[in-house]
Amino acid sequence: MSQPPAPSNLHVHLVDHPLVQHKLTLMRKKEASTNSFRRLLNEISMLMAYEVTRDMPMQDIEVQTPLETMTARVIDGKKLVFVSILRAGTGILDGMLTVVPGARVGHVGLYRDPQTLQAVEYYFKMPKDMHERDVVVVDPMLATGNSAAAAVDRIKALKPKSIKFVCLLTCPEGIATMHKAHPDVPIYTAAVDRQLNEHGYILPGLGDAGDRIFGTQ
Ligand code: URA
Repeated sequence: MSQPPAPSNLHVHLVDHPLVQHKLTLMRKKEASTNSFRRLLNEISMLMAYEVTRDMPMQDIEVQTPLETMTARVIDGKKLVFVSILRAGTGILDGMLTVVPGARVGHVGLYRDPQTLQAVEYYFKMPKDMHERDVVVVDPMLATGNSAAAAVDRIKALKPKSIKFVCLLTCPEGIATMHKAHPDVPIYTAAVDRQLNEHGYILPGLGDAGDRIFGTQ
């Protein structure tokens, strides 16, 4: 498969923190067990949550310390929605909810037709009042970009305040698809790999993320 031109880097936030990169390298190893793959994804997802929530709006509240009353800042976690693209998105969702336990959760069920590599929807469930919410869509692998673009299409119809996309790995083809369909949606990723193969897998990648998270291969 030939490589499309690299899209604008403004659109892509590369999370190149040493802890993230170290854990990602361990996940890529084909001998990593299901247990360690899942644990590492969980840990990376907490660190990605830290990056993607960096500019979240905050509010002031009054708190009483043991010594005096002060005004201090808190996040309104209820305004945030994590949307997991099933099934591999679950692997990122768990880690993100560990650090933002007040967030709401939506699910989009999509599978890739193995012949056409197009996304086919089988489930869609979002919290109420999406127009008041900031959305973070999660899926470990942004490969062809077809599932991500289809999920964002459906979410956009509900008119949320903002949408960001978090993955673990992507490639130039996936970024190009998302950039073309949704140039307003920033992508947070731990790596941009070389290319897709003819089956829609990222190279060098880490294999099938869903199978590795759930031990289904
Ligand atoms: N989905 C995966 O799980 N892995 C890839 O490499 C591409 C899509």
